[in-house]
Amino acid sequence: MIRAAITAIGGYVPENIVTNFDLEKIIDTTDEWITTRTGIKQRHIENDPKKATSDMCVEAVKQLCQKRGISPEEIDMLICGTVTPDMVFPSTSNVICAKLGAKNAWGYDLSAACSAFIYGLATGSQFIETGRYKKVVIVGADMMSRILNFEDRTTCVIFGDGAGAVLLEPSVDENGVQDFILHADGNGANFLHMKAGGSLNPASVDTVTNKMHYVYQEGQTVFKNAVYNMAEVSAKIMDKNGLTANDVNWLVAHQANKRIIDATASRMGLGSDKVMMNIERYGNTTAGTIPLLLWDYEKQLKKGDNLILSAFGGGFTWGAVYVKWAYDGD
Ligand code: UT7
Repeated sequence: MIRAAITAIGGYVPENIVTNFDLEKIIDTTDEWITTRTGIKQRHIENDPKKATSDMCVEAVKQLCQKRGISPEEIDMLICGTVTPDMVFPSTSNVICAKLGAKNAWGYDLSAACSAFIYGLATGSQFIETGRYKKVVIVGADMMSRILNFEDRTTCVIFGDGAGAVLLEPSVDENGVQDFILHADGNGANFLHMKAGGSLNPASVDTVTNKMHYVYQEGQTVFKNAVYNMAEVSAKIMDKNGLTANDVNWLVAHQANKRIIDATASRMGLGSDKVMMNIERYGNTTAGTIPLLLWDYEKQLKKGDNLILSAFGGGFTWGAVYVKWAYDGD
């Protein structure tokens, strides 16, 4: 069997940083509340109105190509996981490829909110495993600041902007994507969504007046579902693959809330030394969190390391991917 190995990573976050103290000045919140409830200290927010999600992705993919020493023209396919596409159509994937000059690539956007990167990894790896393609790029990116209501303290403190990308190529050994378990439950839509902008509530004066183009979240319900499902699916993929806590080198978990990540690690029997964490610097970048973790921790990764990638998000969508790392990060 041909396995799909991650052979390079790129990442990008906008330069502009907004700290919890900055938010204290515009809404009724405190650094203490945000830090203890979520683990977040700051987030990167794009302040150039001309920039969009595709611009962050282009930077991430360019970096990945440079690291791997390939030209964008060598990319066969590019999948972009996002809930903040540049436009409803065409797909942000198409826009990224055009800006990059990846003229031999085709691709599409994948909508699975915070699980979009792992959904994309599972999907993209199929094109490598079948032998159809040699270079597939998976991007996870969101410019959440563009759909946040900065008068709603329950959501605007949580999210940030960022993009991460990985290159998948046929593995030369047994390393690469080993297994995945993915789930979805559309009943979760009631608790985390954006009401307007689609065919149900197309943009109108009313939708704008009623602030329907912003993230809506019932935090506690999402929290409870996230804790249970992310922990369960992470433990399940370990069990399915005969992995004990000793075998797992890293938990690479969606960065929505430090308390959710800690609960998942605890269910898996992992100490904090095996848990990748960068929520304090970026907040929740939705589809961007998992590739941004890999980007930040790349130097510490060793060939053969066992990684469990795990996410929960809007949909509800959730799942876990078991990856054997394919190269020494340093
Ligand atoms: O990535 C996609 C999936 N999303 C998630 O996984 C997020 C899951 N949910 C969460 O992480 C948490 O529910 C939140 C971080 C969103 C909220 O934390 P919480 O501990 O569930 O808080 P809560 O909603 O129960 O609110 C507790 C209190 C409330 O005040 P009262 O009613 O007790 O007086 C809120 O009004 O905290 C208040 N509050 C705030 N206070 C200061 C809510 N937001 C803020 C804020 N600053 N920013």
